Amino acid sequence: MKILVVGGGGREHAIIKALKKSPACGEIWCAPGNGGISCDARCKDIKATDVEAMVAFAKEEAFDYVVVAQDDPLALGMVDALAAVGIPAFGPDKAAARIEASKVFSKDLMKKYHIPTAEYETFDDPAKVMEYIRAKNKYPVVIKADGLALGKGVLICGSEEEAAAGVKEIMLDKKFGASGNKVVVEEFLTGPEVSVLSFTDGKVVKPMVSSMDHKRANDHDTGLNTGGMGTVAPNPYYTPAVARRCMEEIFLPTIAAMNAEGCPFKGCLYFGLMITPDGPKVIEYNCRFGDPETQVVLPLLESDLLTVMTACTNGTLADTEVKFRDGAAACVILASGGYPVAYEKGKPISGLTGGQLPEMADVTVYHSGTALKDGALVTAGGRVLGVTAVADTLPDALARAYEATGRIEFEKMHKRSDIGARALKALAAL
Ligand code: AMP
Ligand code: GLY
Repeated sequence: MKILVVGGGGREHAIIKALKKSPACGEIWCAPGNGGISCDARCKDIKATDVEAMVAFAKEEAFDYVVVAQDDPLALGMVDALAAVGIPAFGPDKAAARIEASKVFSKDLMKKYHIPTAEYETFDDPAKVMEYIRAKNKYPVVIKADGLALGKGVLICGSEEEAAAGVKEIMLDKKFGASGNKVVVEEFLTGPEVSVLSFTDGKVVKPMVSSMDHKRANDHDTGLNTGGMGTVAPNPYYTPAVARRCMEEIFLPTIAAMNAEGCPFKGCLYFGLMITPDGPKVIEYNCRFGDPETQVVLPLLESDLLTVMTACTNGTLADTEVKFRDGAAACVILASGGYPVAYEKGKPISGLTGGQLPEMADVTVYHSGTALKDGALVTAGGRVLGVTAVADTLPDALARAYEATGRIEFEKMHKRSDIGARALKALAAL
């Protein structure tokens, strides 16, 4: 099969590396891709959000299958547009992608179908938001922009003043554009967070191995929220008992709810969960693989990814095995100093051969933001590399991932030194 993967980060690199293991995978392309991805796939410089150009390219090159990995092209309806020209694609259509693209849609869905989540109200009038927050007088309070905001549209406000500033930023100053026309205000929940990515064909749902993201920029969960500074899998808080509850109370009801609403979800549905004292609750849904969760989940997948993906598209997932190996994976992100705010690009990266560390067979380097300049790899984004190690135990995976990061250098490189520390503590307490 001739395959196109839409996107250009570490997640897409992990998807490509997993697809290439499939005997059915022929030529593989990535658009736009990046410098490191070009070691594994042919790259075509088309913006992931340019639906028209992407569909024209897919037709011209006669791809057999397209994997739309990024949220915004899914929300823009790229899967629908590909279907209209007869090209099957992995990912939800535009109507189903609303589960991530509109927080109002997803919160209303959960309320209607009794799926556990934080209590909330939605608003389109900034004055009404503050009236509500003042009347509740309970802090911290969580304010979320309705639409996509690069993972930055969630504010946790400790006081009325902070909430007012947040409402101004989202609804009046339009920091996230039209994504802030409406907001969701919700109660603040507490408990460990778990990411569960799942395959679904709209009929059955098969969860992947659980994982734990580290969203803050600095050690001890301090600093700004980022796209994710590292991940581990499995997540020790996702015990078999929690997994059973999630399946009954969250996963199956969500699949059924999307069907009942007339927009069955096919693709990878990402459940962002919090294990609260009252049980697991949904913090957010994503309509795609997580980044950098994918960089620890797919290396543990034993089944053939291409077979599983096409089963999601064709509605045959019930008959398809989705199996993960025992053991653990850890991913440490190497970022440009200053990320997620201002950072420099174009710094030469040393230590890699063909984008990898060939002397460490248990380690894979996933490229998030790299480019080729005169044949050499340079930094080209905030998150630059995701260094993943797979081992029989989490301590070993973490040790190997950190050892590998010590062999890679670029100017002003920033990494957290405590990825997995919380997971190790939780494991010790089990
Ligand atoms: P999201 O972009 O929805 O994943 O939110 C970003 C982060 O904000 C989450 O990973 C949580 O750590 C935090 N968060 C979101 N909603 C809540 C909530 N209701 N209570 C506590 N923390 C939350
Ligand atoms: N790592 C969080 C996300 O992909 O949304």
